[in-house]
Formats: sequence, structure tokens, C-alpha cells
Amino acid sequence: MHDSKRPVVIVGNWKMYKTIEETNTYIQELSPMVKDSAAKVYLAVPFTAIQSAASQAQGTSIVIGAQNMNSAAEGAFTGEIAGKMLKDAGAQFVIVGHSERRRLFAETDAMINQKIKRGLADGLQVILCIGESKEQHLQDKTNEVLKAQLDGGLADITAEQFNSLMIAYEPVWAIGTQEAATPEVAEKAHAFCREWAVSHADADHAEKLVILYGGSVSPENAAPFLEQPDIDGLLVGGASLSAATFSQIVNCKR
Ligand code: PGA
Repeated sequence: MHDSKRPVVIVGNWKMYKTIEETNTYIQELSPMVKDSAAKVYLAVPFTAIQSAASQAQGTSIVIGAQNMNSAAEGAFTGEIAGKMLKDAGAQFVIVGHSERRRLFAETDAMINQKIKRGLADGLQVILCIGESKEQHLQDKTNEVLKAQLDGGLADITAEQFNSLMIAYEPVWAIGTQEAATPEVAEKAHAFCREWAVSHADADHAEKLVILYGGSVSPENAAPFLEQPDIDGLLVGGASLSAATFSQIVNCKR
């Protein structure tokens, strides 16, 4: 069973979808459907929709955040967004190191580490995404890859800072493929991450660390993940785009 020392957190990652108007409609629709949920509900919306999403979500249980940020405090970086700007717009968290950013925008563990440090310094909660490719999975290299991503992404992060972090295990082969990992396969990776956290921080912080599973989560497959001892929540892409579908995932344990 999931350890009740940790909250259940369900995060929607909208990626590059939804205008401001669509965002407002979605939040109006979602908030009554999730208001009695025991799970915490997070939405990572596009930059342009953060401010209106945050004001729409006021007084509801929905937490608004962003999908990426720059590692600099500010500066001459045309087209980039700083953590303090996200915070200013009403974001409370940021996703860092999503596999699409690693693959399509060449983000390295060292860059991701800088972003995490900046995000934490700017007062944002940070969700670090990690996960192995199909090839690495088939070669049985999952733990090796996760260790490298954790060592690199969380270098110099203190035990204290673990309080403001979540980890999302998202096997790359499961993202957007309708080919979710089985809860048992995901649990092995989550348990590995928690062991890593014990050695990097300490047992107490590792026990409190929320570790999410992501990759083709749907209302049909969500609940069994949350039965696993080290799976504390879900990071949902495609199935978060409809409020009705996403609410079924949020409420799947009720
Ligand atoms: P998916 O995406 O749920 O559409 O597979 C998950 C993610 O990319 O975070």
C-alpha cells in the first residue's frame, strides 16, 4: 500500500496546449469535480496561461505551475523565462528536465541541476523528471540511467531542499505511447529512487519525498499505480487535457 506519510499528488502536464480562455473554462470545470479529493491537484500550464490560471484557481484546491524555466536569475536571454517571473505570475511549482526538453532541446543533467537550484532559490517547488529510453530499458540499464540523472540533476542539493522537491519517474518509452509501465516495473524504479534519496540526503527526507509515475496514465490504469508502496502520485500528459478525464484520475482512489 501507498505510505500515508506522503500525500498523493496528481499533476497534469498540459505541454503546448490551451489558450487563456480554454484554461479558464477547464479550471471552472475541474474545480468542483476535485474539491473533495484526498489527492493534491497540480496543473503545469503554458507560461501565457499561468496568471489567469492562478487567479481562477484561487480558493480551490488546484495548484498552478510551469513546465520549464531558465537557470539564470535574469539577463540577456531572449525568449527565456526566469523562476521569479513564474512566481510573480502565480506559479507555485515548476517541472524541470522533462524528457521532451532533454531530447528536443538538448538539456543535460548539468543544465537541469542549475535550473533546479534556481527554481528552489526562487521559492518554487520543483518536479524533476527522470527516466530511461526504450533501448536502455531493453538493455536493463534503468537503474544506471536513473542514478546518473539523479546524481547529475540533484548534485549539491541539501537534505533540507528535498522538502521542496518531487521526483517524477517517466520511462521515455511510456510517454505518449499508450504503453504505460506496469505498476510493478514502475515500483522497482521508484524504490530505487527512494534508496538513492536515502544515500544522498537521509532516511527521514527520503521517506517524505514524493515520487510520481508518468507515462500513458489514464483513468483505466491509474489506480493500481497508487497501490504501490513507493508510488505517491502521477504525472499525466495527454489524459490531463480534458477536465472530465483528468478528474477521474484525481478521484481514482475514492
Ligand atoms: P502522457 O505524458 O501522459 O501523455 O504519456 C506524460 C508526460 O509527458 O509527462
